[in-house]
Amino acid sequence: MNSPTFILEQKKLQENLAHFEYLAKETSIIWLYTLKAFDAPEGLALIAHSFDGFSLGNANEYAKVKEYGKKVHSYTPAYYEEEVETLAKQSNTMSFNSLTQYRRYAKRCQEHTSLGLRINPKLMLNQPDYCNSNRSRLGVPYQNFLDVYQEDKEVFERLEGLHFHAFCYQDSHAFEDLITHIEDNYTAILKRLKWLNFGGGLDFTSKTFDTVHFMKVLQTFQQKYPQLTLYFEPASAVLKDVGQLEATVMDIISDTIPIVILNISIESHLLDIAIAHVQPTIKGASRFKSDYPYQITGLSCIAGDVIGSYYFNEKLSLGDTIYFEDMLAYTWVKQTSFNGLRKATLSVL
Ligand SMILES: Cc1ncc(COP(=O)(O)O)c(C=O)c1O
Repeated sequence: MNSPTFILEQKKLQENLAHFEYLAKETSIIWLYTLKAFDAPEGLALIAHSFDGFSLGNANEYAKVKEYGKKVHSYTPAYYEEEVETLAKQSNTMSFNSLTQYRRYAKRCQEHTSLGLRINPKLMLNQPDYCNSNRSRLGVPYQNFLDVYQEDKEVFERLEGLHFHAFCYQDSHAFEDLITHIEDNYTAILKRLKWLNFGGGLDFTSKTFDTVHFMKVLQTFQQKYPQLTLYFEPASAVLKDVGQLEATVMDIISDTIPIVILNISIESHLLDIAIAHVQPTIKGASRFKSDYPYQITGLSCIAGDVIGSYYFNEKLSLGDTIYFEDMLAYTWVKQTSFNGLRKATLSVL
């Protein structure tokens, strides 16, 4: 195997997908996989088999799943102007991130797709800042939306759905909080809507996720609003524990704690680690004291390219292979085409 390499463990992915197939069988939810977390064709072919469709944000992402002919929801913080109408034609549902985006594009898109608005419910959830969209620019702050809705219902004549993405590794109780928020604030509006998209971020495949509680909350809500089509668009839960990053020990420098140089670097291979400020898990190592402590570092020329201090079960040697665990969601994709965004070109003036 080449090194470094991201390893996709198909059997583990199939296990997670089987769980989503079970959820699909037990609920009348439409399950969309959110492409941004991992979009390699080898994984998408398997995911497409188990999911009703995809959630994506632009033409680059659409091109990756077009062949499957499945449902598409589109959402992005801001649409590329020259793409938005085509994307509307390719999407079953489409949500806008702000009132300015909605006002700018809704008329052009309304005849092609079902229009929605992403709402920021401002939930108080205990989750990491880097992925806490409740404290972000993502979605129209719900109070703003409610105010504008009261003042000018005509603006929203074509609005058919609301989109929430408020969670980051959350359990069924966070989902209950969102349902409470929706029932407390939008009852008058819900009656005239066709769909709600609850976003991603629920830890469906975690051993601790209370599926029974989740189903109960969902079913109670559905009984009250049977006319609404409900969507979830998970990503990290689909990829939980399905892959590793394999790296090689290039050098071991003697120091108070020996310094290991690997053939990867934070900025080239682990951008999500950099932004999340978390220490990735390494197979055969932990944070508990052992006889083999090492400082694990990268191959770049940046002094701060330090992945962290680990205690290994065994002594390391040159050429050893190191496996970083749970490395598929949001890691591999940041080397290539995160969110399907266009790369910057170089103009020489
Ligand atoms: C709008 C939206 N939906 C769904 C997801 C998937 O979230 P997760 O990977 O936490 O399930 C994301 C992730 O950033 C997102 O931005």
